[in-house]
Amino acid sequence: MPLSEKELVDRFYPRPVRYFEQIGSTNDVALEWMANDAVEGSIVVADEQIKGKGRLGRVWQAPPRSALIVSIVLRPQIDNLPQITMLGALAIYDTIKHLGIESVGIKWPNDVMLNDLKVSGILPEAVWDGATLVGVVLGMGINVRIDFANTELADKAISIETLMGRQVERINLLTDLLSHVDYWTTRLGTDELFETWKNRLVTLGQDVSIKMTNREITGLAEDVDRDGGLLVRTQNHQLERVIAGDIVLG
Ligand code: BTN
Repeated sequence: MPLSEKELVDRFYPRPVRYFEQIGSTNDVALEWMANDAVEGSIVVADEQIKGKGRLGRVWQAPPRSALIVSIVLRPQIDNLPQITMLGALAIYDTIKHLGIESVGIKWPNDVMLNDLKVSGILPEAVWDGATLVGVVLGMGINVRIDFANTELADKAISIETLMGRQVERINLLTDLLSHVDYWTTRLGTDELFETWKNRLVTLGQDVSIKMTNREITGLAEDVDRDGGLLVRTQNHQLERVIAGDIVLG
């Protein structure tokens, strides 16, 4: 079933909602809205995303009615900016766990995984006015019923319904997700948020190889710091801090 604007507006009142049957990128629309008058918590939701943005310049498309595609406007303090990605991953983790799925984990930095397959992606985008933080759009995509069989993503991605073998209503998933986003938003900057994110990382203690734009490092993923950096013990016993990249092995 497609989502309906009326149902979304009624369900989430008084939260401002913009719904699109088809959209380029929910993040782009939310960024424009945020630059104008969007209050914290405003959401942009779409049934189909055709020019979605992923991490590291990738694309993130979603066929009609196949995924939960949402971007939420947040107005955090600058000091809490590094925790926004953690917040998104925690909220999605909680939502999936609440469905009764035990095999959920977070792969550094922010991929929510079912077993070793990616079920969701998160893309925060901050907007600045000089040194002043205008706000952050937190974009989240959850694979609900995309069929990855016989595609190049078959050994990398999974959908919730494929794992559960039953239908999941996206509006209910969104309701749960937003309540978890609200919960973690009130805890930005706390030890609770950081420690919970750290404890849910499946990456720590693993041998990893991380591909960055200009180099690749290999070693043991030993720890994370409060800004979300990954600390990797390399073969020559150095501790290297990585802030962005793709884990290609581990
Ligand atoms: C990743 O590469 O893992 C991040 C993917 C983020 C995709 C979401 S879908 C909703 C929001 N709108 C976008 O254009 N991107 C994000």
